[in-house]
Amino acid sequence: MSSNNAAGLGILEAGGGTEEIQAKDNKFVHPWEDLHNLGKNKRHVLTRAEGIYVYDSDGKRYIDGPAGMWCVNVGYGRSEIADAVAKQLTEMPYDSPWSFANIPAAQLADRLTAYTPGDLNYVFFTTAGSLSVDSALRFVMFYNTILGRPEKRHIISRQDAYHGSTYLSASCGGKERDKVFQVFEKDFIHHLPSPNPYRRPEGMTVEAFCDAKVADLENKILELGAENVAVFIAEPILASAGVIVPPPGYQKKTLEVCRRHDVLYISDEVVTAFGRCGEIFASESVFDIVPDIIATAKGISSGYLPLGAVFISDRLIEEARSAGTPQSVFANGFTYSGHPASCAAGLATLDILEREKIPEHVREIAPYFQERWQELRDIPLVGDVRGAGLMACVECEIDPEGEDSLKLDYEVGTRIDEHCQELGLILRPSINMCIVSPPCTITCEQIDEMVRILRTGIEKTMEDLRREGRFSG
Ligand SMILES: Cc1ncc(COP(=O)(O)O)c(C=O)c1O
Repeated sequence: MSSNNAAGLGILEAGGGTEEIQAKDNKFVHPWEDLHNLGKNKRHVLTRAEGIYVYDSDGKRYIDGPAGMWCVNVGYGRSEIADAVAKQLTEMPYDSPWSFANIPAAQLADRLTAYTPGDLNYVFFTTAGSLSVDSALRFVMFYNTILGRPEKRHIISRQDAYHGSTYLSASCGGKERDKVFQVFEKDFIHHLPSPNPYRRPEGMTVEAFCDAKVADLENKILELGAENVAVFIAEPILASAGVIVPPPGYQKKTLEVCRRHDVLYISDEVVTAFGRCGEIFASESVFDIVPDIIATAKGISSGYLPLGAVFISDRLIEEARSAGTPQSVFANGFTYSGHPASCAAGLATLDILEREKIPEHVREIAPYFQERWQELRDIPLVGDVRGAGLMACVECEIDPEGEDSLKLDYEVGTRIDEHCQELGLILRPSINMCIVSPPCTITCEQIDEMVRILRTGIEKTMEDLRREGRFSG
């Protein structure tokens, strides 16, 4: 019994054995589901987690390389978060955010706005990053309409961006492969070329590339007419696209362009906030920008319960307030805006981040983490290794002349992930890339273990490809 509990199997037995759970799980259409596999999937069933590790129903232990989905920043097994949530659910599980205030939401609003840069002193709670981005964009539309300039509604985003899965946030997404089978908004959403220095034209310096990407923004604003452009939305680091770190100074220079043309700036910090880059918010402390709006989620509650938050500047709120009438309400909100249990999880997460000085820990350990990752460059299959804070990506380079290079591109990240899982490391594979963003509590020894497994996983994949005659490097 005790060993069952150790692997979380007690819970599994109550719901059926592993195979039964896997069969039932085939009714669950998971994110980015390949419908061909529906009914045939055999996903590992995770039953327990502690620190940076998760355990499957066979008791096998894995390092959780992506911290769930970039979110479990304070690590697993934090009973104080569970206790805070349980206490809140027992005392007062829900209140209508339309009519009432609740204690955790009020306290969280107060504590988080003490960390926001500049005058971003208002917060709108959501339950996900997509909804934070969606609400931020809709607030911008509301703001311009109320100021009497509804035509100022065009949104500028970038190729390679990921901003979420509502219709509006997904339309801002810039991953072409995600857009092939759906119809998205194109009339008022525009995508600049990706600011990926790895893909810059041959012979161009990083500085010149930066200037070119900043010029792309200014040229697009001029082309559309600044009077028509509402906002530029940008992740400081393009996380899902493979931890693309724009050239130094890019964030500041793009903000200056926006300021010159009266275009608002939304910093999508759904991934970069709450410790991931060594700060609670990265916009000002790491990237030297004070945007108009910051969208967050994920690490805000360390993934223990769904929660998101949009931080809006005093200036925008004041301008909208003075231009509006008593009827001009910001008609946007959710049944679960400021949900008391989610906000209790947010408060307990913030307690841990502060008490254990987790952002400071990330600042100390990130250089070691990045250094160790860079060592993977010597593997012939590896084309680029990049990262920042506690995020990193290995991008593989298959012979571009090879006839099935595109197909291989699709496979290679998954193949590496499969090898690594056998060896006890979960990655986030994406096309030809492997991404990690481990819990921010990770130690040097655990980083060593991760890099050792990843090296073996990549080398095994490379050997397989050579054996198949598909890689000659
Ligand atoms: C930068 C960014 N914005 C928004 C989102 C959407 O967040 P969610 O999946 O919580 O809706 C994500 C999710 O990965 C993200 O990486």
